Amino acid sequence: LKMKHPMVTAVLVVLVQVSQSFPALYHRSWWRLLREGDSCGKCDLALCSEPKECPAGTVLDRCGCCPECGNVEGQICDLDQGNHFYGQCGDNLECRLDADEARFGEVPEPQCVCKSQESICGPEGKTYENICQFNKAYAMKRNISMKHKGPCESAPVISMPPQDVQNFTGNDVIFGCEVSAYPMPHLEWKKKGNKMLLPGDDTHISVQARGGPQKYGVTGWLQIQGLKKSDEGIYICHTKNKYGATYAAARLKVIDGSSPTFAGSRSVSYSIEYGEYYDHADDEDEEQYESGDYEN
Ligand SMILES: *[C@@H]1O[C@H](CO)[C@@H](O)[C@H](O)[C@H]1NC(C)=O
Ligand SMILES: *[C@@H]1O[C@H](CO)[C@@H](O)[C@H](O)[C@H]1NC(C)=O
Repeated sequence: LKMKHPMVTAVLVVLVQVSQSFPALYHRSWWRLLREGDSCGKCDLALCSEPKECPAGTVLDRCGCCPECGNVEGQICDLDQGNHFYGQCGDNLECRLDADEARFGEVPEPQCVCKSQESICGPEGKTYENICQFNKAYAMKRNISMKHKGPCESAPVISMPPQDVQNFTGNDVIFGCEVSAYPMPHLEWKKKGNKMLLPGDDTHISVQARGGPQKYGVTGWLQIQGLKKSDEGIYICHTKNKYGATYAAARLKVIDGSSPTFAGSRSVSYSIEYGEYYDHADDEDEEQYESGDYEN
């Protein structure tokens, strides 16, 4: 009995050393043991733990017994229902291979994609891209339902207003304005103090608009080429639909000369109260901008 104790200790020490010097081997055997013990037994729902706050609802586990969280939109999934490595997609989602990815020579990975791409109007008047996005946002409040299918109807919202800009005479500037609403909003540009819509008949001004970048969005641009001192002023992006109208304004400052060494052509962002400029007479307070810190 006295001899046995050091013997056991020695065997243990050797075992630990072996497992440390061959960690992969050690690991793999445990892995196999785990998997073997992992076969599905009889399903006892009482032993299942209730998954909480699943943004894409629940699916059944690999044994088809207990509920577990389904994978959300964009998450990798198992294409084959019989596989259980990445997991199955949740409500309103299906596992799909992106063919485009394969074309670019990448190894394509199947992802959960929303089956419907119809927009959803949420109860607070926010438009969700699809039912999956809506469910994700409302996962914690399951008993709140959507307002209706399709986008929420609303007055336009300017998601990206034009930014103040300055440049030298002879150079070009562009103002951008990003708007979203449904029905699609109308977008137009004006110069403060001038009732006429831009470009009017002005050959050095051009106006462009394009749908996007978001769904139910429009982006407009106002370009002024070959700046003249007289172009200086406040430019206003005006947008409206049948539910309302809004605007955003930005200032253009034209600097005499064309020295490229002066780093003055940087755009700065501080908002201008359009109302302020409209309500007061034309004697704007230039000082604020003259002395303003343009290095943002
Ligand atoms: C469902 O909504 C009601 C009232 O709107 C609220 O009192 C209740 O707590 C909600 N239940 C859940 C599970 O969110
Ligand atoms: C200033 O003008 C130059 C030349 O036209 C142009 O490339 C540059 O983008 C302009 N800078 C800004 C901030 O608009």
